[in-house]
Amino acid sequence: MNSNRNSAKKVIIIGGGVIGLGIGWQLAKMGCAVTIYERNRAGRAASWAAAGMLAPLSEVHFEEQELLQLGSMSLRLYPEWVEELEADSRMSVGYKTEGTLIVGIDRDDAQLLQHLYESQKLLDLRVEWMDGAAAREIEPLLSPKITAAISSEDDHQVDNRLMVKALITAYQKAGGTLFENIPVEKIELREGQAKGVWVKGALHDADVVVLAAGCWSNEIGGLPENVTPPIRPVKGQMLALKMESSVALQKVIRTPRAKYATDVYLVPKNNGRLVIGATSEEMGFDTQLTAGGLFELLRGAWEAVPGIYDLPILETWAGLRPGSRDNAPILGPTEVKNMIMATGHYRNGILLTPITAREISSLILTGKTSETIAPFQLSRFSQV
Ligand code: FAD
Ligand code: GLY
Repeated sequence: MNSNRNSAKKVIIIGGGVIGLGIGWQLAKMGCAVTIYERNRAGRAASWAAAGMLAPLSEVHFEEQELLQLGSMSLRLYPEWVEELEADSRMSVGYKTEGTLIVGIDRDDAQLLQHLYESQKLLDLRVEWMDGAAAREIEPLLSPKITAAISSEDDHQVDNRLMVKALITAYQKAGGTLFENIPVEKIELREGQAKGVWVKGALHDADVVVLAAGCWSNEIGGLPENVTPPIRPVKGQMLALKMESSVALQKVIRTPRAKYATDVYLVPKNNGRLVIGATSEEMGFDTQLTAGGLFELLRGAWEAVPGIYDLPILETWAGLRPGSRDNAPILGPTEVKNMIMATGHYRNGILLTPITAREISSLILTGKTSETIAPFQLSRFSQV
């Protein structure tokens, strides 16, 4: 990506998740003076809780064409993004390209799969329809009950926790400043312009302020109501099992949501963790794990891959996805000059990190909103 030196524009980013770090890294490389304020530890909120799947169509409706295009563009950026990030940080981000099998057990599942397959074909995605026996040839650990599957070669994954660590390192190596455990209290506005942020009772000036505070993005003071992003938290419960040599998946396995309360995915990581998720619950900021939530995940995962039954549990957790009113991200300029939004990435923030970083850093450097992010501006909510 672009590495030209640039005039030392002073940029403050609120929030040190993958979105804030990704933008900060790119801007710092281009010569901006970037400071990220993170109220806890950087990258330990949604960005840490995620499964790391890079799958534009899995959780987006076919009708959401602009979002699908954004996700597909970001997926295409991933190989270059990983190469640059790994080179800059000298760390692996666990990018895996083995692909995904979406599997169905009964007739309802098969119908959902058929619908998904047709949508994928219309989008020209590299997908293959197969029966249960063919799916088990590719992944012998699948249940004998599986009757149909879609193999999606282009749905990849990254280890999002490794990506967080690599982004922190690459950002700081590029000269970016990261303050952890320091919340931004308020954004300073004067004459319709963002002038900086208030931190520990003191004002810190900036030429540009970027709001990338995930599901807390509407809690920061100072913004008028029409420039406050409509963001809510959407809870996801998850768990990780320890794979053994006899139960070691290579591909991501997904089930559709035909029978049970939640669809389930199983995401094998290079370090032997098998991440299983996730519930999707409108519970405000609650992050309590529940017996029902974990039961649904384990039941769904066990039905697809019975061999997980004896695997040790490594970890359980819940994270909060930043969801906007229409579940698409909020990207770009606002009515307040020099106040940029990069939030609301909902279920696809890991996938959308490269495109967000590229487009928002370009906006800050050129002052131009690209066609790619134009449909995702905050102003779309006031036009309805
Ligand atoms: P966050 O990572 O939440 O970061 C925001 C940061 O802002 C936080 O660290 C917070 O502490 C900080 N902050 C808040 N207020 C302030 C303040 N006042 N001052 C300073 N800092 C502040 N996406 C995918 O693409 N693939 C997946 O497989 C996937 N799986 C997921 C599974 C689960 C269970 C969850 C919860 C999410 C998943 N996602 C996935 C979505 C993805 O994790 C998010 O969209 C993405 O992490 C959002 O990144 P972010 O930087 O905007 O938010
Ligand atoms: N993208 C996976 C999730 O949000 O659960």
